[in-house]
Amino acid sequence: MNLLLIGSGGREHALAWSLAASPLITKLYCAPGNAGIAELAECVPIDVMAIDRLLAFAREKRIDFAIIGPEAPLVAGIADRFEAAGIKTFGPSAKAAMLEGSKAFVKDLCIENNIPTAAYKRCQDAETAKAYAATLALPVVVKADGLAQGKGVIIAETREATIEAIDTMFGGAFGAAGQEVVIEEFLEGEEASFFALTDGVHVLPLAGAQDHKRVSDGDVGPNTGGMGAYSPAPVLTPELSADIVTRIIQPTVDAMRARGTPYVGVLFAGLMMTQEGPKLIEYNCRFGDPECQVLMLRLKSDLLPALMAARDGILDTVDLRWRSDAALTVVMASRGYPGNYEKGSEIRGLSEARKVAGVEIFHAGTEMRDGKLVATGGRVLNICALGRDVRDAQLRAYEAVALIDWPAGFCRHDIGWRAIAREHSK
Ligand code: AMP
Ligand code: GLY
Repeated sequence: MNLLLIGSGGREHALAWSLAASPLITKLYCAPGNAGIAELAECVPIDVMAIDRLLAFAREKRIDFAIIGPEAPLVAGIADRFEAAGIKTFGPSAKAAMLEGSKAFVKDLCIENNIPTAAYKRCQDAETAKAYAATLALPVVVKADGLAQGKGVIIAETREATIEAIDTMFGGAFGAAGQEVVIEEFLEGEEASFFALTDGVHVLPLAGAQDHKRVSDGDVGPNTGGMGAYSPAPVLTPELSADIVTRIIQPTVDAMRARGTPYVGVLFAGLMMTQEGPKLIEYNCRFGDPECQVLMLRLKSDLLPALMAARDGILDTVDLRWRSDAALTVVMASRGYPGNYEKGSEIRGLSEARKVAGVEIFHAGTEMRDGKLVATGGRVLNICALGRDVRDAQLRAYEAVALIDWPAGFCRHDIGWRAIAREHSK
């Protein structure tokens, strides 16, 4: 089979790594890919949003199956276009990708189907938003409805900050994404990410994970795309995971099918584990980055038949095996990220770091220039490791980090702390 993987992050490197091991593959292409993916696939320099060009490429290379990594092309309808052209595609249609594309849509779906989530109101103007926010206890959560590259959520700690957040959103700071605003009650608890494949009818739970969204040690500082992750997440016990499927994932899949817009792909639920049980914070219509990296390290089975079965509506025939080991990933980012950072600095030492037992390195923002590996993005490398438990995986990952010579980069030093605290209290 000829495969086309779309994306260029650590998530896509991990997917490429997993797919490359499949005996079903003849040729793996990735658009646009990165320097790490180039070791496993033929990279083609086409942007993930250039859907016409991607489609022309897929036709020319007789692609049998396409796998879409990021949300933006899915929300823009890439799966609909590919399928209409006869190319089997893993990823939801534009209408199903609304689960990530519109926060207001998801909130209404939750209420209509008794799916536990924070109390909220959809607001089309600032006055309505401020009036509803005033009825909630602090902090108040203010969200732009549409895709805002992970920046469209403000947790306002004071009344003044709430008003300012509402005015910022309606003032156009997030463009069209902020034309509608959702005001939400703040949920207390520990966050976790839960992943499931679905063919629109059946649900196949993958595994749970936790990421670290804040840039600095101790979970402080600005939000990022994710500075590290681990799986399994001890907070997601088998009982809670089963509960999440029954009360959140399956009702969502059923509701999407009933609306005539079945959801096919991977459903990523961001959850808050509250005193009253797990509640949905948000959905994503793709794998998490960096959560995907740790899931792929733990997956023993061939990923490709599972993705194809989801596309073909026969997910009930699939059974996936997982390693009982824990996997952890430390993100190395360019100094300055998530703000401004310099591009083009050289990275050395990867081949040494890779030799640490259990370690696998996935690239995010890298390129080869004149035979040198250089950083080209905010998040640049994922230093991943498998271990007996999260602590063991953490030790190995940081042993590898220490071997990387990249003065222009940084990482957090406490990835996994919540899970390790739990392991120690056992
Ligand atoms: P989102 O972009 O929806 O993932 O939101 C970004 C982050 O904001 C989440 O990962 C949570 O940490 C936080 N957040 C969003 N909604 C809530 C809520 N209702 N209560 C508490 N935290 C929230
Ligand atoms: N790591 C969170 C995300 O992929 O959205």
